[in-house]
Amino acid sequence: MRRYLALTASLLFASLPLAAQQPGAHSRAGVEQLAATPPMGWNSWNWFAGKVTDADIRKAADLIVSSGMRDAGYVYVNIDDTWEGKRDANGNITTNEKFPDMKALADYVHSKGLKIGIYSSPGPLTCAKYEGSYGHEDQDAKTYADWGIDYLKYDLCSFGNNMRQEHPNDPAAQAKMAREAYEKMHQAILKTGRPMVYSLCQYGTDESWQWAPQVGGNLWRTTGDIHESYDRMMIIALAQAGLAQYAGPGHWNDPDMLEVGNGKLTHDENITHMTMWAILAAPLIAGNNLTQMSDDVRSILTNRDVIAIDQDKLGKQGDRVYAGNQIEIWSRPLADGSVALAFFNVSVDRNTMRGMTLHLKDVGFPKGAHAHDVWANKDLGFIKDTDVFTIPKHGAVLLKLTK
Ligand code: GLA
Repeated sequence: MRRYLALTASLLFASLPLAAQQPGAHSRAGVEQLAATPPMGWNSWNWFAGKVTDADIRKAADLIVSSGMRDAGYVYVNIDDTWEGKRDANGNITTNEKFPDMKALADYVHSKGLKIGIYSSPGPLTCAKYEGSYGHEDQDAKTYADWGIDYLKYDLCSFGNNMRQEHPNDPAAQAKMAREAYEKMHQAILKTGRPMVYSLCQYGTDESWQWAPQVGGNLWRTTGDIHESYDRMMIIALAQAGLAQYAGPGHWNDPDMLEVGNGKLTHDENITHMTMWAILAAPLIAGNNLTQMSDDVRSILTNRDVIAIDQDKLGKQGDRVYAGNQIEIWSRPLADGSVALAFFNVSVDRNTMRGMTLHLKDVGFPKGAHAHDVWANKDLGFIKDTDVFTIPKHGAVLLKLTK
């Protein structure tokens, strides 16, 4: 099945006008340069959902600066669904009463040294049933550019109904429609002349990783939505096994936005979440309530050494090395020749600390390695062949190993 889909995907590309074929600033290289490392920022959905307002976004921008998040790399302030109003007599999209003046809001966010993102759908309606971009792609892209938008999350939503109506029982034809819809908005963005990071959100259906870069995607969701629970976060994380080959500078797998600091996630669960996203070279789009961020959550989100792994310029996504006995081991090669190695205690039993022995020869270091414990910020010295680590339930240990 997977192979069949991959084959149909590659046949379909042949008929699409590829960004790669365009010269100048909007060449494939130009588009990819926008996300040379995984995008970092904050998005309104995971905390505010449909309640977000202009005031919330301004406050978020203020707090991203004052908390040190901006200086740690979180530069995109992204408005998710529910900002949209109706179309005016000329078909131009307007904002609803929660967002009285989008241009003024963008100016405000820019004045803080940040960038601003927005959200729409290729369908007639967004997922929260607000106005989508269907039939107005060029017009909407131009409006976003006029407002000063730097990032677009484009969410399939109601376009799925269009696909099913036009091609009932024909998944390949439906998939082709989705790709063309994403390509259409990509071309619309290019025509504006304003660089915008392009974030594809269609939940990983039709193996988005196989084709998203060809339709201009800088990042593409690989799964359905994340929730503020350890189990959901971990289901998504572990589903990323095998996808590393599709990511690289300019184009990234997106296991969805961070829930660090939301719900009842514990300290150890937040550490696991952030560690996994760093190993995965995932976009780091925080989604917490910045007005009540604890010092613990702030220090997890802004840990420089963990962010440096996520943002490593080699851009090679990590992958699973081992799974068994309620332990997961994942590793990621880094630009300086070192390796980020993470152990996760995925125990389902109550309060189970797990001990595990690291065998360096099993992780590519037959002659031993110098180890640094990243979260503990502690140098462990040279490990010749084995070492023992204790990992709290739902927690993680992240090592940087150097020959
Ligand atoms: C979908 C997306 C979410 C969010 C909502 C908004 O569920 O996957 O990330 O954007 O729509 O309605």
